[in-house]
Amino acid sequence: MLSTKTLLLGASRRPALRRVLVGTPVTRRVVERFVAGETLPEALTVVGRLTGEGIEVTLDHLGEDVTDPGEARASRDAYLALLEALAPLDLGPRAEVSVKLSAFGQALPGGEDLSLELVRPVVECAARIGTTVTLDMEESSTVDATLAVLAELRREHPQTGAVLQAALHRTEDDAAALATPGSRVRLVKGAYDEPPSVAHQGRHDVDAAYARCLGVLMRGPGYPMVGSHDPAMLALAQRLAAEHGRAADSWEVQMLHGIRVDEQRRLAAAGTRVRAYVPYGADWYGYLVRRLAERPANLRFFLRALVSR
Ligand code: FDA
Repeated sequence: MLSTKTLLLGASRRPALRRVLVGTPVTRRVVERFVAGETLPEALTVVGRLTGEGIEVTLDHLGEDVTDPGEARASRDAYLALLEALAPLDLGPRAEVSVKLSAFGQALPGGEDLSLELVRPVVECAARIGTTVTLDMEESSTVDATLAVLAELRREHPQTGAVLQAALHRTEDDAAALATPGSRVRLVKGAYDEPPSVAHQGRHDVDAAYARCLGVLMRGPGYPMVGSHDPAMLALAQRLAAEHGRAADSWEVQMLHGIRVDEQRRLAAAGTRVRAYVPYGADWYGYLVRRLAERPANLRFFLRALVSR
């Protein structure tokens, strides 16, 4: 039988469902919980609030799976506008950006070259204003191409961040390869539906893999970014950081905007570096469906909003 996660992630590719959900006012209420707004000024308001509370941010201009080079160039331009707007706020690395290479044309013909050509000016602009870019990770079929672009970018900008998904069988090796001095790696469980040939299927196996990969990153000389809301993984991260004598500024916790907000504040107040992943923009559909798919409580929140209309 297909799981709810498989059904939802499969449905996320169907345009009819997209049209229904995007057009429903109730969806907007749910979206507001997870997305900082549709416009740059709305996102900047959230950035000001969070950084004022001692929480750092990584901003995601929503969009993925572009279908022509013009849309890919528009993604680049949106990120350049975002970085220009961040510059006068003088937040430096406290406000960085996350990009999905599928929004930069990765899946188009010649997509590896195109995505590199379009993301490079974003990385250069970020460096000019004293901040960084992290490359989000998408479906397993894109991991090699994304890591290849990362390697190119890191020649001149070694601070460019990577994301690794613990669910994938390959990730322990990738974590070892990326655990080099100064290397910024966000470890997440993985939000995509992947077959058993490439990924662990059960929660227990994914958690065990996350713990192993976290061990590799925390032991190494890089900069681990612990992307999880899971109390067990967060406690393990604190334990490993202490065990390996890591200074408070040599690793960080990252959580999604709107999720476990009190815990984000508590950790930051207790001296852990915390960064919220803040998505904004009109193209929030794929992001929303992944949040609904990964946690029954998120789906229940959506369904409750529907029936209490
Ligand atoms: P999981 O969903 O397994 O939940 C474990 C436990 O955490 C729960 O039992 C509960 O105790 C707690 N918890 C989780 N959600 C909660 C909530 N809403 N409220 C209260 N408690 C909650 N994925 C990807 O494939 N590519 C990427 O680039 C990224 N990027 C990314 C950035 C950041 C900053 C984060 C935090 C996550 C991602 N992800 C991602 C998503 C990631 O792969 C994963 O799907 C989600 O983080 C959910 O997994 P968790 O580790 O949070 O725990």
